[in-house]
Amino acid sequence: MELWTVLLILLLSLVMLVYVGVRLLTYNHDLFKKLAIDSPPTSIFGHFHVGVKFGVFQTQVEMYSQYKYKKVFGWFNFTIPAIVVCDLDLVKAVAVVHFNKFVNRSATIEYEPPFRDILLNLKGEHWKRVRSIVSPTFTSGRIKKMATHVERNVKNLLEYLRQKQESGEEIELKETSGQFALDVIASIAFGLKVDSLKDPKNKFAVEAGKVVKPNLLLVPLFLLFPRLRGLFSRLGLSIMAKKPMAYLVETLDAAIEERKRDGTEGHINDFLDLMMIAEKENDTKEREPLTRSEIHAQSLIFIFAGLESMSTVMSFTLFLLAAHPDCRQRAQDELDEILGDQTPDYETVQGLHYLEMCINEAMRMVPPGFVLDRKCVESTDIDGVHFPKDMIVMIPVYAIHHDPDLWPDPHTFMPERFTEENKRSRHPYAFLPFGQGPRNCIGMRLAMLELKLTLATILQHFTPVTSAKTVYPFKLYKFIPRAVDGTWVKIVARK
Ligand code: HEM
Repeated sequence: MELWTVLLILLLSLVMLVYVGVRLLTYNHDLFKKLAIDSPPTSIFGHFHVGVKFGVFQTQVEMYSQYKYKKVFGWFNFTIPAIVVCDLDLVKAVAVVHFNKFVNRSATIEYEPPFRDILLNLKGEHWKRVRSIVSPTFTSGRIKKMATHVERNVKNLLEYLRQKQESGEEIELKETSGQFALDVIASIAFGLKVDSLKDPKNKFAVEAGKVVKPNLLLVPLFLLFPRLRGLFSRLGLSIMAKKPMAYLVETLDAAIEERKRDGTEGHINDFLDLMMIAEKENDTKEREPLTRSEIHAQSLIFIFAGLESMSTVMSFTLFLLAAHPDCRQRAQDELDEILGDQTPDYETVQGLHYLEMCINEAMRMVPPGFVLDRKCVESTDIDGVHFPKDMIVMIPVYAIHHDPDLWPDPHTFMPERFTEENKRSRHPYAFLPFGQGPRNCIGMRLAMLELKLTLATILQHFTPVTSAKTVYPFKLYKFIPRAVDGTWVKIVARK
């Protein structure tokens, strides 16, 4: 065959290949037109490139401000379409009123146990059963019992802060809060006493640090070929880090067996204890009791759903108070008035309303769950919008929290936005830090208690102030709610 013929065939093959590739990536890009839903112009990557270029927070704010009067808009992550809901009544409809049509989250990856069994990932009836068994664990009475575990860990934190204050060193609040939050998790959910502030390289901290880092190289493989999960598993491929997960499971099993052996079961008042009780209580009801893997999974939740969120809110609240001495002073005046020298506990922190307003305002500005997602399990029409079966629905929490019509001057820290009067004047779905509806954050009350106990104790003894390393206003990373320049402050002792 002559050279030019070979070249021609190669060229034609290349053109065909590019054509097929583009068709595969764009085959459904007319979907929103068919659904009569507006959508920004797409490229062959859908809208993925927009998010990559501007980052998730800026993209959310810009798209939301462009489309909010249209109630919804269409979005493509490559070929995966999603309806983004901007209208707050429609948010309520999806999360609450028509919840049965949007029971699941959008996760397309099928994980292996125990990660498969964590509430965040469960679907349909399986989710309903586990949520109804675990829910009683988070009632006020039971959370109250867990408060002692928080209080014990706060003492270690105070000691650490005292050292920093005496040496005059600056501290990065996200790191400190992360270590503290992990110690509380070890204590409440794994039956361990660790002090990561003193010993950041302890085995539990190291393994927990590894377990939250999925194998990012494998994620696209699992997303593109979900049906081959069984094969990947046989080949030993796993998105979640296997060894750290095995260590955490062994730790839990050891604690469970020890409690059964020593007869201390039911007397330690931590989450693990309550799960063991929940397991027994459900033996008598019609529901299937929790399996051991499901028990493991519920303790793991604290690491996957509680660690990053708790440390984000704790660090930003303290950071924002350091940057706003007038608000910090008001929070400390409230503490002095209500508590005096008394150590904060479950009962007393209930009266710290201004502190709660500061925490809420920090969560408004930097919501750890900056986007909520659901999957439509049955085609449905709501308020003129058609949601086809299997459509992903996203709620842009960060953008809603920064909508100037709901929150004037949205980049300014103003805890007064959360007075009872101001709350009443706003749409109830304008503030969504813990999500909404039956699938909202199950740990919400425990999280608020832990935050109030910890922050009240810190502010009773110390005053966080800005320091040489403080950069304020802060700028967030493109994809994670964390300050690019850190959250640096200095700690000053109170008289
Ligand atoms: C300040 C701290 C926290 C914040 C801001 C937060 C926020 C959230 C958000 C936004 C969701 C999604 C809700 C939705 O889709 O409507 C969620 C779900 C969840 N959170 Fe939290 N969370 C926090 C702490 C915790 C803690 C300490 C736990 C520990 C138990 C926890 C356990 C969960 C679980 C299990 C879910 C999934 C619930 C389900 O699907 O049924 N969270 N959280």
